[in-house]
Amino acid sequence: MNRNIVCIGAGYIGGPTMAVIAKMNPDRKVVVVDINASRIEAWNSPDFALPIYEPGLVDVVKEVRGRNLFFSTDIAAAVRECDIVFVGVNTPTKTFGRGAGMASDLQYWEATAREIKGYAEGDKIVIEKSTLPVRTAAAMEAILNDHAAHRFTVLSNPEFLAEGTAIRDLLEPDRVLIGGPQDEAGLAAIEEAVAIYATWVPRERILTTNVWSAELTKLAANAFLAQRVSSINAIAGLCEATGADVDEVARVIGADKRIGPKFLKAGPGFGGSCFKKDVLNLVYLCESFGLHTAAEYWHGVVKMNEHQQERIVSRLVREMFNTVANKRIALFGFAFKSDTGDTRETPAGAVARLLAEEHARLAITDPKALPNARRDLADLQDVVFEPDEYKAAEGADAIVLMTDWRHYPALDWRRLYDVMRKPALVFDTRNCLDAAALRAIGFRVLNIGK
Ligand code: UDX
Ligand code: UDX
Repeated sequence: MNRNIVCIGAGYIGGPTMAVIAKMNPDRKVVVVDINASRIEAWNSPDFALPIYEPGLVDVVKEVRGRNLFFSTDIAAAVRECDIVFVGVNTPTKTFGRGAGMASDLQYWEATAREIKGYAEGDKIVIEKSTLPVRTAAAMEAILNDHAAHRFTVLSNPEFLAEGTAIRDLLEPDRVLIGGPQDEAGLAAIEEAVAIYATWVPRERILTTNVWSAELTKLAANAFLAQRVSSINAIAGLCEATGADVDEVARVIGADKRIGPKFLKAGPGFGGSCFKKDVLNLVYLCESFGLHTAAEYWHGVVKMNEHQQERIVSRLVREMFNTVANKRIALFGFAFKSDTGDTRETPAGAVARLLAEEHARLAITDPKALPNARRDLADLQDVVFEPDEYKAAEGADAIVLMTDWRHYPALDWRRLYDVMRKPALVFDTRNCLDAAALRAIGFRVLNIGK
């Protein structure tokens, strides 16, 4: 067995994870491959114009690219040369057939399994990095080992990194999870995978389980986090109706050690590629095993999230004298959270579409996500994309702050006020601005949950 690693899929997960694995394992060659040639070209670009933005990522890639980290489109060669194959291809929600809108579309994943099998010239350990519905590893193992000349052992090693903090999360993970078959070959493969992480992660933080537990744990962990966000957002609506302040409520709830303070920030709802997809996967799984009440329970988490964006728009329209038609509304932030250019499932997208239905004129600004925003909203009329916040605000009736970019509170809000139409409204859906200071300037201010 050689120590070399290939990762199929050079996305938000594959790229940063392999960069850190290469950094911490200088004696291993790590090759990241992808079918998307322009993505690989970007990973290889001489000026390090990487395809994804992630704080600290460029420094790691600068250190290891060409040393022991390589990006390539030659999947066949990479699979042949490595004994450990990570699979980090995307698994979008199915848009057709059984389980449409709910189950994962596993066609890329299956094609990848068949490719690995086709190119392999020896035994391999195949490690799922993508979040997959429970028992996918078993299916993968069946495909790989059916009439195969070589032995494939399939492990599940779900990634818990969050975007925007990927490098820190990878360097200092709360835990690394490795699931594998509980037989001799499986346990040996688990040890091989543990060794990759043990170069920098304390051993007691590397948790091993059976494969199904690992797969289910990832879905369950994301469902729990998403559930906290929906729970506090459900309380936010009640606060608005009754005069309580959701940030105060959250602070006190979070002071209870049993609950803890994290993931209790009310806002425009969760976005990102994982939460909705994983919760819906869980719903689908529950349904398929006849656990209808459990399915309904988890489905509520997604419904609550969608409701939050509808609530934001109805409140805004109500506050703008029941019409936003032809009014200019500036969305500050389009990424699903700060420190990323990722706009997958971003609440700003849903809000933009609801406002477009009301015939608002939209100006969208974001320091990292404008290219993605342009692509996502290509079908909408009357939208301008403006990197400069002051230009975005020019002539606007309202600013709706959607993403908690760190520099937003430090903008010159007096200058923003001066360029807007009056009465100028700010809807801070992240509760990150100084509302009293804004009111002193002359703004009308709306917050979530107050
Ligand atoms: C991850 C996980 O893999 C997914 O399960 C998780 O739930 C969401 O995030 P991510 O890295 O964010 O995926 O996805 P993406 O940035 O879309 O990257 C996947 C890459 O795989 C793409 O660059 C795509 O071109 C590549 N790919 C896809 C292949 O190389 N081969 C394929 O057959 C399919
Ligand atoms: C998440 C998980 O955290 C990570 O472990 C998993 O691997 C992938 O999914 P990510 O989607 O990158 O990571 O971001 P995260 O920081 O978890 O935020 C998800 C969404 O919830 C964002 O839209 C964020 O703004 C929102 N959120 C988070 C809140 O609205 N309130 C909070 O208190 C926390």
